[in-house]
Amino acid sequence: MTIQLLLKPACCPYSLLGLLALILSGKCSYSPEPDQRRTLPPGWVSLGRADPEEELSLTFALKQQNLERLLELVQAVSDPSSPRYGKYLTLEDVAELVRPSPLTLHTVQKWLLAAGAWNCHSVTTQDFLTCWLSVRQAELLLSGAEFHHYVGGAAETHVVRSPRPYQLPQALAPHVDFVGGLHRFPPTSSLRQRPEPQVAGTIGLHLGVTPSVIRERYNLTAQDVGSGTSNNSQACAQFLEQYFHSSDLAEFMRLFGGKFVHQASVARVVGQQGRGRAGIEASLDVQYLMSAGANISTWVYSNPGTAKGTGWWGRRDYPCAHPSKYNPGRHEGQEPFLQWLLLLSNESYSLKNAFQEEAVAQFLSSSPHLPPSSYFNASGRAYPDVAALSDGYWVVSNSVPIPWVSGTSASTPVFGGLLSLINEHRILSGRPPLGFLNPRLYQQRGAGLFDVTHGCHESCLNEEVEGQGFCSGAGWDPVTGWGTPNFPALLKTLLNP
Ligand SMILES: *[C@@H]1O[C@H](CO)[C@@H](O)[C@H](O)[C@H]1NC(C)=O
Ligand SMILES: *[C@@H]1O[C@H](CO)[C@@H](O)[C@H](O)[C@H]1NC(C)=O
Ligand SMILES: *[C@@H]1O[C@H](CO)[C@@H](O)[C@H](O)[C@H]1NC(C)=O
Ligand SMILES: *[C@@H]1O[C@H](CO)[C@@H](O)[C@H](O)[C@H]1NC(C)=O
Ligand SMILES: *[C@@H]1O[C@H](CO)[C@@H](O)[C@H](O)[C@H]1NC(C)=O
Repeated sequence: MTIQLLLKPACCPYSLLGLLALILSGKCSYSPEPDQRRTLPPGWVSLGRADPEEELSLTFALKQQNLERLLELVQAVSDPSSPRYGKYLTLEDVAELVRPSPLTLHTVQKWLLAAGAWNCHSVTTQDFLTCWLSVRQAELLLSGAEFHHYVGGAAETHVVRSPRPYQLPQALAPHVDFVGGLHRFPPTSSLRQRPEPQVAGTIGLHLGVTPSVIRERYNLTAQDVGSGTSNNSQACAQFLEQYFHSSDLAEFMRLFGGKFVHQASVARVVGQQGRGRAGIEASLDVQYLMSAGANISTWVYSNPGTAKGTGWWGRRDYPCAHPSKYNPGRHEGQEPFLQWLLLLSNESYSLKNAFQEEAVAQFLSSSPHLPPSSYFNASGRAYPDVAALSDGYWVVSNSVPIPWVSGTSASTPVFGGLLSLINEHRILSGRPPLGFLNPRLYQQRGAGLFDVTHGCHESCLNEEVEGQGFCSGAGWDPVTGWGTPNFPALLKTLLNP
């Protein structure tokens, strides 16, 4: 879906001088990201200035149009009581709506060409432009930026980043939201692996979570697998040095997939699948998505952030265009691929009021125990929406079965896989897939979910709040959301409309 746009220097010979003057003078400039990160994250080390002739890629986020209209449409297609429910926009429809204005496209193009950046790729919606240019050109373009090499992270990743903030010419303020590839470092995984199982005396020995445990716990039967007769499919994404290995998936299914019909290989990898060691997170995602959403065609979107094999600098490829973004204050943490996924869970502050407000207000007014109010923001996006087992998963990574993998990223593919099974039934009965489900879950007040009403967050950030975390109760709460899936009940309540 990426379209290539080679900007030919010959196409806009005029007014380059004016822009160049703007770039060089640096007088009238603006900071697109006032909150730019300047501290080095833990575990990263600087290796010094980058060579001026080295190449790097930067992503320019161009100002989008019609974001309010897009937001209305997202709300409508996600609201079961709307006549537009489930009538999703195509990528072309979204592009038609949000595509930057001709003036924006023209101004940014002229500015980039003036600095010699002509090797650029755009996406269908044309609101992100990724350009390859030299460090010298990049520093000329982004006043204040200074590119350095860094190494760090679990995979000893090499990246080129600027420890200093950048500014853009004032004339670009109405046209560029931010420039990506300067500040953000590859994220660290939230998964933990415990050295030993925690055995609760009264419960007895628990051997860890496997697909069978999950399928039993959430009331799935052997019939709850993809039929192979719909064109249903599911996908997960791997980021930044995190790859799954096909052989690990096959081994995982050999070890743990005996009791349910499944597929032992992914149907398609979109983007570049790196050759490095498998990452636990990427392995877990694909293994549990394909065990919960069993026998459903599965794709993996691969977005290698940086790869040692391609040289010193980071290469970013965006394998697919992002369908929607409507936060006017975009920043670098929202580069297209990541942003697309984060959007609905985190950045949808405008949607929040529409679907969450009542449940959250009810919790806050009725919970007998709340942490000190300075420790949470009562008007922010509340989470989680739902819950699933997250502790002690078995994962096969680099040919080795690894026990006791834990984290909320373990629950996510499980819940996602169950929704794929529900989509399967919807598609077979002529309905659209579920799409952005969150508003509907709140509207239905958690119907079809097993409401977890006991237990509290065990620990917090420091002694002051130790033992004072949120507690679960009836209905929505910030410990388990609306609860954990009860598959037959969830299927029944989400099949219509
Ligand atoms: C699993 O999917 C395949 C097609 O991929 C299909 O032929 C088969 O019938 C499905 N199994 C079940 C139990 O539905
Ligand atoms: C899936 O199948 C349905 C019905 O056959 C068809 O209308 C739809 O276009 C298909 N979708 C894709 C993405 O192929
Ligand atoms: C999610 O939202 C919170 C609150 O607005 C913000 O602090 C955080 O940076 C966001 N996370 C991401 C990954 O965007
Ligand atoms: C709480 O969240 C709201 C909405 O995201 C935000 O406007 C406000 O600034 C936040 N307050 C604090 C103290 O962070
Ligand atoms: C599974 O089904 C049984 C019988 O209907 C029910 O009692 C139990 O709560 C269900 N489990 C979950 C996790 O919802």
